[in-house]
Amino acid sequence: MVNQQSPIGVLDSGVGGISTLQTLTKLLPDEDFIFYGDSANAPYGEKDATTVQTLANNVIETLRNQGVKAIVIACNTATSAAKPQLMTAYPDMPILGIEPALKEAVDAGKQHILVMGTPLTISLPKYRAQVARFADQADIHSLPCPGLADRIEQGHAGLLEITAHLTELMAPVVNEPIDGVVLGCTHYPFIGKLIQAQFDHHVDLYTGYEGLTNYLKRQLADHDLLRSGHTKQSVTFMSSRDTPAELALYQQLFANGIGL
Ligand code: SIN
Repeated sequence: MVNQQSPIGVLDSGVGGISTLQTLTKLLPDEDFIFYGDSANAPYGEKDATTVQTLANNVIETLRNQGVKAIVIACNTATSAAKPQLMTAYPDMPILGIEPALKEAVDAGKQHILVMGTPLTISLPKYRAQVARFADQADIHSLPCPGLADRIEQGHAGLLEITAHLTELMAPVVNEPIDGVVLGCTHYPFIGKLIQAQFDHHVDLYTGYEGLTNYLKRQLADHDLLRSGHTKQSVTFMSSRDTPAELALYQQLFANGIGL
């Protein structure tokens, strides 16, 4: 039986959700977290929706077996492809997801917004409906980024390789008057500076992480699951690529990011 002391489960296709976890742990210091990265099956963004649903479901089963009280799908692709099915499958616990932070960029007054996401996220009806919702408030460019999450996941791709790939992906939009970039994949914040450099640093970045954390807090309070007065936050890492090196990489990314 879960209670206020139970941890919160956070999942991603791989390391990307660690960028979300950094905000969650900072803004909810009284909560414990278990992060699960499905790195053995990453990236999700170039698979079909049914496969992503199955993979995300498997991870949620693993997290539930760890006794989590709520789940955060810190993966835009899995949120777009699987969240409604997962909420139906597990009605007994709050399941939240992350979607491209278009609202945050529009609310900040941005007029020319670039949304970067995986090919699957950008192709799904959920994203198209979101764009339609904001289309009369800003000029929105959608950029599917094949291969980008994978290169970030495989940290060994390195700065030059990632920059070259990014430059190629960005070629169709770098001369547009973009003033805000929505990072619609949780892997991308790790290369936020490289993305800004593509626009000579004249763009602001949006992730939606603070909005997600506030929503999680409200959900926990509504279910009487919000914890308080806990001074020793614990953060546990699990991975489908369960090697000491992989778990050390997760710890390192959580502590330092990759600073690109
Ligand atoms: C991926 O696994 O392809 C990226 C995950 C995401 O969309 O956040």
